[in-house]
Amino acid sequence: LVAGVDSSTQSCKVVVVDAATGEVVRTGRAAHPDGTSVDPARWWDAYLEATKDGLLDGVQAIAVGGQQHGMVALDESGEVIRDALLWNDTRSAQAARDLTDELGGVSAWVDAVGMSPLPSFTITKVRWLAEHEPDNAARVADVVLPHDWLTGQILKQGNGFERWVTDRSDASGTCYFDSVGNAYRSDLQRMALGREFGVPHVVGPHEVAGRTEAGLVVGPGAGDNAGAALGLGLQRGDVVVSLGTSGAVFADAAEPVRDERGLIASFASASGAHLPLMATLNAARVLTAAAQLLGTDLAGLDRLALAAEAGAGGLTLLPYLDGERSPNLPDATGTLGGLTRTNATPENLARAAVEGMLANLVAGVDDLRHLGLPVERVVLIGGASASAAVRAVAPGLFGVPVVVPAPGEYVGLGAARQAAWVLSGADEPPDWSVADEATLDPPKGDAAQGGAEVLARYATLRDTLHRR
Ligand code: XUL
Repeated sequence: LVAGVDSSTQSCKVVVVDAATGEVVRTGRAAHPDGTSVDPARWWDAYLEATKDGLLDGVQAIAVGGQQHGMVALDESGEVIRDALLWNDTRSAQAARDLTDELGGVSAWVDAVGMSPLPSFTITKVRWLAEHEPDNAARVADVVLPHDWLTGQILKQGNGFERWVTDRSDASGTCYFDSVGNAYRSDLQRMALGREFGVPHVVGPHEVAGRTEAGLVVGPGAGDNAGAALGLGLQRGDVVVSLGTSGAVFADAAEPVRDERGLIASFASASGAHLPLMATLNAARVLTAAAQLLGTDLAGLDRLALAAEAGAGGLTLLPYLDGERSPNLPDATGTLGGLTRTNATPENLARAAVEGMLANLVAGVDDLRHLGLPVERVVLIGGASASAAVRAVAPGLFGVPVVVPAPGEYVGLGAARQAAWVLSGADEPPDWSVADEATLDPPKGDAAQGGAEVLARYATLRDTLHRR
C-alpha cells in the first residue's frame, strides 16, 4: 500500500492506494482553517486527524501534494515565524509590481525563471515580509512551501528528518527557481529579502526524500496541479481545466514554454517534465456567488442557466470577483455588461455566470495553443465539473471534446502514484488507469458559432475595461 496526501487550502485528504493496481482502498479527510494566512500547525493537526485510527497501517510509502506558493518562513531552529501567507493572499501586489520593474520587466523575468512575479508567487511574499515586518524578516533562516513543511513534519515525527526537501514542481512556483537549469536563483532571492536565505533541497521526481525510523519511505511530493496531472495520467494533447473555488489550466509538456507576456507560467511537472499553467482566482466561487445573488443554490443555478438561450441574451460577465490573477488584475472587480430591460432575467444572469467563468479559462487554453501546445481534449476536473450547466456550456466554448474523469481525489492520487513510483525504483510511474465519466463533444455548424460569439464579447469587454 502507498498513500497520497492532498493538503489543500481548505482541508487535508489522504488516499491509501494499492500500489499494484491504483485502486483506492481507504480515505481520510479533515478540514483545516482556510483563508489567506494560516498557521501551518493547523495543516499538521488536519493531517493527524485525517490519518487517525490506523489509516496508514500497512502503508510503505507516502508523498504529499499541496497548495502551491505559500510562504512558510522558518527561523534558525526550524520554528515557524508567522502565519504562512498563501497563494490566494494578494497583499503583495505592490511587491510584485516592484520586483517586476527591478529586473527589467516581465520578459526579463520570463527569461530568468519562466514566469513573472504575481502576488501569488512566493517571491512577492518574501519581499512583502522584508518591507512590512522587518523584525520577522530578520529572523528568516529558511523559506519552505506548504507541502515541504508537511513532508518535514512527517519525517520529524518519524525521527527521519535530515533537511528540508521539495520537488521541482513546487520549487518552480517560488519564482526564484529556474526549472530549466534546475537551480535556485540566489540573485532573485537577494532581490526579495535583501540577503540569501535557506531553501529546501530539490529532490528528483522519483527519488526518496526521506525515510522514517519505522521504514516509511517519503517521496518528494508536488504542487497540487502537478500532483493532479500525475494522478490523471495525462496524454499529449490533453489540457486540464480545473474548476475548484479558483481555476487552473495546465498541460504536461515535454519542453518548457516561454510566454513573453507572462500569462502562462512555466512550472515544472511532477513527472520530470514541464507544466505550463495559467491560474485564475475566480472559478467555482463565481457560481456560488451567482447562486447567492439569485437566491438559490448550485442546483437552482444550473436549472436557471440551462433554461436560458446560449449567449445569455447578450449578457457578459467578467468574473473577477476577488480581483484576478490571469489576467493579472489583482485590484479588479466583476463587471456585468450588456444589460437591457429585456435580457435582465435570472436565467440569463445564471447563464452569464457560467459562460463568463468558463470564458476566462478558455483564454488560458488559447494561450497554451498559441505557445504551440497541442489541444486535442479538455479534461475537466474540480467541484464545478459536476455542474450540468457547466457540462452543457463547456464544449461549445472550448471547441474540442471535453472529458470529465470519474470523480476522484486526483491530487492525492498523484501523490500516491509518486509514492508508488519512488518505492518501485522504476524509471516510469506505475501504469494506473483513470475511468472517464463523460465525453462531451463540441457542437458543429451554426451551433458552434454561438460559442465564438460569447468569447468575442467577453474579450471585447475585458480589453475595453482592462487593457491586457
Ligand atoms: C497554482 C495555484 C493554485 C494553488 C491552489 O499556481 O496558485 O492552483 O496551488 O491550491
